[in-house]
Amino acid sequence: MRPSDIHCSNGIYIDKELPGDKSISHRAAIIAAIADGESVIQNSATGDDLVSTLQCLSQLGVEIETSATEIRVKGQGLNGLRKPDRHLDCGNSGTTARLLAGVLAGQPFESVLIGDESLSRRPMGRIAIPLRRMGAGIKISDNGTLPMTISGSTLMGLSHTLEVASAQVKSCLLLAGLCAEGETAIFETIPTRDHTERLLPFIRKEILHDGHKLTVHGRCSISPFNLTVPGDFSSAAFLIAAGILIPDSHIRLRRVGLNPTRTGLLDVLGEMGARVTIENHVEDAIEPYGDLVVSYHGETLQGCLLDEKIIPSLIDEIPILAVIGTRTNSGLEIRYASELRYKECDRIMALVYNLRQMGAEVDEFEDGLFVHPSSLRPAGIKTFGDHRIAMAFVIAAMAAGGVSTIDDSECIEISFPGFMKYMGIEPTECHREFLSC
Ligand code: S3P
Repeated sequence: MRPSDIHCSNGIYIDKELPGDKSISHRAAIIAAIADGESVIQNSATGDDLVSTLQCLSQLGVEIETSATEIRVKGQGLNGLRKPDRHLDCGNSGTTARLLAGVLAGQPFESVLIGDESLSRRPMGRIAIPLRRMGAGIKISDNGTLPMTISGSTLMGLSHTLEVASAQVKSCLLLAGLCAEGETAIFETIPTRDHTERLLPFIRKEILHDGHKLTVHGRCSISPFNLTVPGDFSSAAFLIAAGILIPDSHIRLRRVGLNPTRTGLLDVLGEMGARVTIENHVEDAIEPYGDLVVSYHGETLQGCLLDEKIIPSLIDEIPILAVIGTRTNSGLEIRYASELRYKECDRIMALVYNLRQMGAEVDEFEDGLFVHPSSLRPAGIKTFGDHRIAMAFVIAAMAAGGVSTIDDSECIEISFPGFMKYMGIEPTECHREFLSC
């Protein structure tokens, strides 16, 4: 837990490139590890979650060199990973655990995935069940959680319809499909982030009348690649919100990832009437990117109701979107989002708790929340150890003015180590208070 002070005087001014996207960086590192040769990943994510992935890969015998600007991964091919000599610790990272499980299911050795307290509460049955159907031996706890013991074997291709709209489950099964005999077909009724498919262009995509079908043929060898990872849209979301909510702020974020399966927040902000613009948009790259620009105008935003189909494209942005919802004229309704209860913490509970602490009127539902138009007041914030709850309420506290307190800002290191500096907050050893404008 790290105490911090915030001294916010004349708004937030940022004109920068952000560290690389976390979801893309995990996938790039894992896919590079099973490619035939050396891959180079530039502007990779910098948070603790990516460190968890890199450490697990090196325990599996993958040589990785990191420098300030790039990561070099010496791929071992589909069959070249080594049995680890201890448990693979995925830390706080669900993406590490679920994607690695897909790769490990097809390896001829036993491995055990473990995680921290938060990850050890998150559901793993959603990958264990289909991986078993492919022929892997998978043991998880009676609660359906880590630790997961994987006795890899020769896998058979599978045809599977995703029961939850989850890119982690989809990617786990596509990676397992790479090592399987025959064809693996995944059906998703609501599209989820497609970074794995973009990195493995031999995955065939078909658009069906009720969703997508993705097909991978097993035993395809993977070519090494060079990739520059665009800035993390999910990190950018907090800074965009700072531009909307904190007076006198001017934000320009350069080369941010704008993959349409991730940018639902921009669509909702557009509907609300917030003025966020895209400049220098490059659409014909493996991962599209552009500059995001927003300045404070202090307008009241239009209320809105989120459609079920948009939820996966903004699932990680819901904490900050709920904070923005307090500034609408008729409220923000977020439903069909029960997945939020299975993230780094129960995010519906954490949002309702902290918004109410700050004086907002909020209705809680099993699958979401309704945020009424409210003015926020300073309060004691609990992060529940969740990086996105922490960042959302740092912004809320700064927008509220006065002095708020936060119980833990250290968890922000999971995804966005520079965040407190971007917000002009220097960590100190002696205070836990946010002194805001
Ligand atoms: C992720 C997918 C999402 C997201 C998570 C990262 C990924 O989870 O919430 O932060 O990298 O695939 P689900 O796919 O389980 O919803």
